[in-house]
Amino acid sequence: LGKIKIALLGMGTVGTGVWQIVHENKEEILRSCGYEIEVSKILVRDLEKKRNADIPQSLLTTNYEEIVNDKEIEIVVELMGGIEPAKGYIMKAIENKKHVVTANKALIASHGDEIIEKAKEKKVIIQYEASVGGGIPVLQAIKEGLSGNKIQEVMGIVNGTTNYILTKMTKEKVDFETVLKEAQDKGYAEADPTADIEGYDAAHKLTILASLSFGSNVNFDSVYREGITKITPLDIEYADELGYAIKLLAIGKEKDNEMELRVHPTFIPLSHPLAAVGDAFNAVFLKGNAVGELMFYGKGAGDLPTGSAVVGDMISIIKNKCNLADESLKTVDKKPNKSVKPMS
Ligand code: NDP
Ligand code: HSE
Repeated sequence: LGKIKIALLGMGTVGTGVWQIVHENKEEILRSCGYEIEVSKILVRDLEKKRNADIPQSLLTTNYEEIVNDKEIEIVVELMGGIEPAKGYIMKAIENKKHVVTANKALIASHGDEIIEKAKEKKVIIQYEASVGGGIPVLQAIKEGLSGNKIQEVMGIVNGTTNYILTKMTKEKVDFETVLKEAQDKGYAEADPTADIEGYDAAHKLTILASLSFGSNVNFDSVYREGITKITPLDIEYADELGYAIKLLAIGKEKDNEMELRVHPTFIPLSHPLAAVGDAFNAVFLKGNAVGELMFYGKGAGDLPTGSAVVGDMISIIKNKCNLADESLKTVDKKPNKSVKPMS
């Protein structure tokens, strides 16, 4: 049986989700790319920290050199967050001809061009689907399925933490601090939740969405940003009485080679589909000149949804690397027979 060895940098919320998927969905992974994925090393900060019981202690290391110099490791999966040392580790992995998957939107939004350039130079693949929309494969849709369109607009709810907070403050009248703590306990929030509540995380995601959608290098600093910290329970109550929900929206538009990029709380009529996006769900609207309007909806944060996007990226690399993409149909004969439930 063929195995692809990977290393995880980080074993927090997302790392745990990836670990679980790689082990529980072994058969599905094998069927789609023809290989088993083996997590052969995991970089962490603290070797003594209590972790998911299934993870053998022998896989954990605090020494990145053990990973980057291991010739058998083909894919490095960065799930640590922050700019440094994450960026340095990714650049070193690329330098050593390893493919890279990352969920790090802050890094891709601020240094994505440099990293992607380096990957091109070294002829390795870098994937970052989980950086926007958690489990929603919206970047792949923009890069592939919609690549024949001129995208004119991309807009949506792209931060799960703030959507969770606003939803709970509206429905259950829970105060801001309590509900922020809940979002942190559920693993939705960033290590520093200021990134969520002040709109930086949504602005990072809009930077990535706009760069891909409008085919332009978007500078994160050019995105107008306002968070939700000034929203009071009274604002939410008045909005509701007037028939509106308050949502943190990321809005990107392009016309005549000029982009409009902003993140801020917005009044949404209760009849609008975005008003019904609750909990930590995300929704992204896109308008393309050929396809028209599209909406993507799904879980925008958390261990398994984000892990789903990360594992999808690994499989995509394996397929590309092995040039199996066009041969995926050949795996059909490996599928187990499943019976069809008769309809009465
Ligand atoms: P966590 O804080 O839960 O986990 C971070 C992990 O990285 C920990 O295991 C930590 O080690 C390790 N780590 C951090 N810094 C270092 C370092 N310098 N050296 C070695 N190991 C380090 O983060 P998340 O899993 O929530 O997020 C990871 C990334 O995924 C971030 O970029 C985030 O923005 C992104 N993301 C998160 C989502 C979510 O829902 N949480 C969704 C989409 C993207 P230790 O355990 O020893 O402390
Ligand atoms: N902190 C982020 C959020 C994680 O709440 O949306 C998912 O990117």
